[in-house]
Amino acid sequence: MILIFLGPPGSGKGTQAKMLAEKTKIPHISVGDILRDEVRKGSDLGKQAKEHMEAGRLVPDELTIELTRQRIGQADCIRGFIMDGFPRSLKQAVAFDKMLEEQKKNLDAVVYFNISDEEVIERLSGRRSCKNCGAVYHLKNLPPKVEGICDVCGGELYLRKDDEESVIRTRFEVYAKSTQPLIDHYSKMGKIIEIDAAKPIEEITAEMLKITAIATVL
Ligand code: AP5
Repeated sequence: MILIFLGPPGSGKGTQAKMLAEKTKIPHISVGDILRDEVRKGSDLGKQAKEHMEAGRLVPDELTIELTRQRIGQADCIRGFIMDGFPRSLKQAVAFDKMLEEQKKNLDAVVYFNISDEEVIERLSGRRSCKNCGAVYHLKNLPPKVEGICDVCGGELYLRKDDEESVIRTRFEVYAKSTQPLIDHYSKMGKIIEIDAAKPIEEITAEMLKITAIATVL
């Protein structure tokens, strides 16, 4: 099963992708997580990505396309994967269509997380991420057991640089200009499944499990 999660920053793509990956044992591929990891390690890729990410801009297409090509070719993707945050531009979408064709793989569905700007701003400003393992919390909606400490690994929780208010604005503009047009691209292919991403986490997870069943028969 191959799924793409598409939606604005903070719409809950990562939260749901992690849950679904755990239940289906299909890998969750977050280009944002991979890039943050490279930034932490100080690799060449991380150095090239850092400035773009902190400013809320897209990392150049060539880098994310190549990174995705390599990741989906790995052995754990043989039964499928959940793409979270890729593609984000028409160029990436066209490259992804071609990658799947070359690898004789079939895209099952694109889950579109529909939500208002007001709701995602509240989510992003309350989000806290683990510096060590990347686990994601929310001060009100998904608090850790101990304030400031990751339940999973005991790491320190922090506010992502790109979750600061001024950067959120740029990320929304980038989303509207580069990523939203993909809804049209995938609608024409008959692949879009829209969900109301403003619902509580557990309700969306239940819906996701139904979608997984639908996606495999589409
Ligand atoms: P990335 O990390 O992918 O950021 P994003 O797409 O902006 O998405 P977020 O991680 O902000 O949000 P999310 O939808 O996953 O929400 P989450 O589940 O965390 O990308 C970061 C940067 O990397 C980009 O800006 C770019 O620079 C670069 N990049 C990445 N991919 C790229 C690409 N393809 N091309 C070029 N550059 C790329 O939830 C948010 C908060 O809400 C959490 O606190 C969570 O607990 C809470 N929450 C979640 N669901 C609910 C719910 N239903 N109800 C209440 N609270 C909820």
